[in-house]
Amino acid sequence: MSKTNNATNQIGLEKSDMSEVIAKLNSLLSSYHMFYINVRGYHWNVKGEHFFTLHPKFEELYTSLQVEIDVIAERILTLGGTPLHAYSDFSQHTSIQEDKNVKDGNACVKGVVTGLQSLIAEQREVSALAVESEDQGTADLVDDYVQQQEKLIWMYNAFLG
Ligand SMILES: [Fe+2]
Repeated sequence: MSKTNNATNQIGLEKSDMSEVIAKLNSLLSSYHMFYINVRGYHWNVKGEHFFTLHPKFEELYTSLQVEIDVIAERILTLGGTPLHAYSDFSQHTSIQEDKNVKDGNACVKGVVTGLQSLIAEQREVSALAVESEDQGTADLVDDYVQQQEKLIWMYNAFLG
């Protein structure tokens, strides 16, 4: 049912419900940024016999994270919010912590798996809240990422054996 009044945003969703969805998306955006910079670190610093496998794999991952970051930020704008855009804000809202000076291949892959698990858990919460608020667009967006990241976990865990 289409509603057009001051209580709804430009896509007909209740502003009061959306403020909570926007806040959760901003936390998710922060976690993505933290994970992104961790994965860049793995890409740069990984050493050892699997260098030529892992170095490009990590680049593939951070490149897709960068695209997802932009989609999430623009979803926040579509809902009527403002995406966080300062590292000081990201560090306060992230669910993923900095992972510094990791060089061992397996440790890098474990960091990737842990980060993906955090993103998945956070996105499941975003999805549930969005569905409650009739925001199927946000739910579909993060559900798609969950499915892709679940498969990545299988592959990175297969690497670990
Ligand atoms: Fe590079």
